[in-house]
Amino acid sequence: MPVAKQTEIAPAEGRLGVLLVGLGAVSTTFIAGVEAIKKGFAEPIGSLTQMGTVRLGKRTDNRVPLIKDFVPLAQLKDMVFGAWDIFPDSAYDAALNAGVLEKELLGQLKEPLRKIKPMKAVFDQTYVKRLSGTNVKTGKNKFELAQQLIDEIAEWKRKNKCSRLVMIWAASTEIFLKPHAVHKTIDSFEQAMRDNHKAIAPSMIYAYAALKSGIPFANGAPNLTVDIPALMSLADKNKLAICGKDFKTGQTLMKTIIAPGLKSRMLGLHGWYSTNILGNRDGEVLDDPDSFKTKEESKLSVLEYILQPDVYPSLYKDFSHVVRINYYPPRGDNKEGWDNIDIFGWLGYPMQIKIDFLCRDSILAAPIVLDLALFLDLAQRAGMKGVQEWLSFYFKSPQTAPGLYPEHDIFIQLMKLKNTLRHLRGEDLITHLGLEYYD
Ligand SMILES: NC(=O)c1ccc[n+]([C@@H]2O[C@H](COP(=O)([O-])OP(=O)(O)OC[C@H]3O[C@@H](n4cnc5c(N)ncnc54)[C@H](O)[C@@H]3O)[C@@H](O)[C@H]2O)c1
Repeated sequence: MPVAKQTEIAPAEGRLGVLLVGLGAVSTTFIAGVEAIKKGFAEPIGSLTQMGTVRLGKRTDNRVPLIKDFVPLAQLKDMVFGAWDIFPDSAYDAALNAGVLEKELLGQLKEPLRKIKPMKAVFDQTYVKRLSGTNVKTGKNKFELAQQLIDEIAEWKRKNKCSRLVMIWAASTEIFLKPHAVHKTIDSFEQAMRDNHKAIAPSMIYAYAALKSGIPFANGAPNLTVDIPALMSLADKNKLAICGKDFKTGQTLMKTIIAPGLKSRMLGLHGWYSTNILGNRDGEVLDDPDSFKTKEESKLSVLEYILQPDVYPSLYKDFSHVVRINYYPPRGDNKEGWDNIDIFGWLGYPMQIKIDFLCRDSILAAPIVLDLALFLDLAQRAGMKGVQEWLSFYFKSPQTAPGLYPEHDIFIQLMKLKNTLRHLRGEDLITHLGLEYYD
């Protein structure tokens, strides 16, 4: 990721194509939202790139531009969308089916949404057991499927007159896969695709096709996908930005807001019990134990890293952390996340915190997709290659350089993101030391 201070950033000229793998609840809520904002029906609430500011210089300087005015981001009017899905429904029908947005709003966006028809997916039910669909590619082996994607991407870019593309995985969570020997090098990875090796999941085939096509890639699900040496070195070699994993929304967002606060006041933790009820297709997929395992790993890691039990054994050693997801159809996308947090304070006296977050998963995820598309495109134009750790802010399991532990504390993540933007523009980094005000 290293990039020089005050880098030359190529201008955001022409159209930016956003290729979404999966045209489900998150993708359609994102696309419909951008179209609604373009038409002036709504504001981009929840999006740091659109509403966030960045302080520059001293507190007394009064320089606080909007992020979108500080760094050259693509404009929403220049964004176009493409997608793959195993179901042939247009973005309009898929959005109606997902049931996140009201019919009345979708009715006003019918025209742009109807035009987005998903391309045939690379799919194998071995990796997502609860789904089966008809809009699926066939090919001799996984390598050939990747070539089909590469050709399709080139054709899509030409047809949609795009100057740049980004790809974001917003498809279902695949089963838990461990890193395998075939993931080590590009050669072993390509050979494994030709051999139809089971360690190569569909998400890896999309990521490979993106990186071969010169497109940066973000992974919104907890799957291994681009977090393997072969694809990381392909990204490096082709000078492409990558990031992941698993959009940070809902319960984990709350965890990474509250846990740093408890730690900052040296309050101890006996246990944190989290349960979710949700009834969307994501919930149905996660009802399969193998897909849930991938999600569980992603959700569980957060507290360990934030609380650092090794550094603070008397506060955090052996705390109990349980995460449950229950598929409950009546709730649809309107999830309920309950947390019971058993903490302790002065003299070891116990206290409890209860959180009942009645959230809307895709409403929280959509602005993340927007920001990732814009920041990945920015990173690409600024010559930033490989893992983009400054985008950890958006992920439950941030991808890092090998051997580095991820930073989960949302406040550190935000500082890192903004300091990266300052660095890119040659502005002083903000340390919050502030002694100069008292000289
Ligand atoms: N909604 C959130 O807040 C949130 C947060 C973090 C992560 N995620 C992850 O984002 C992903 C999308 O979530 P969602 O709520 O939109 O789910 P969804 O089930 O509504 O949509 C996923 C879509 O992906 C399609 N799909 C599955 N495998 C595919 C493949 N190989 N190629 C192309 N399409 C494929 C499915 O047919 C489905 O339409 C999930 O993996 C979810 O775990 C969502």
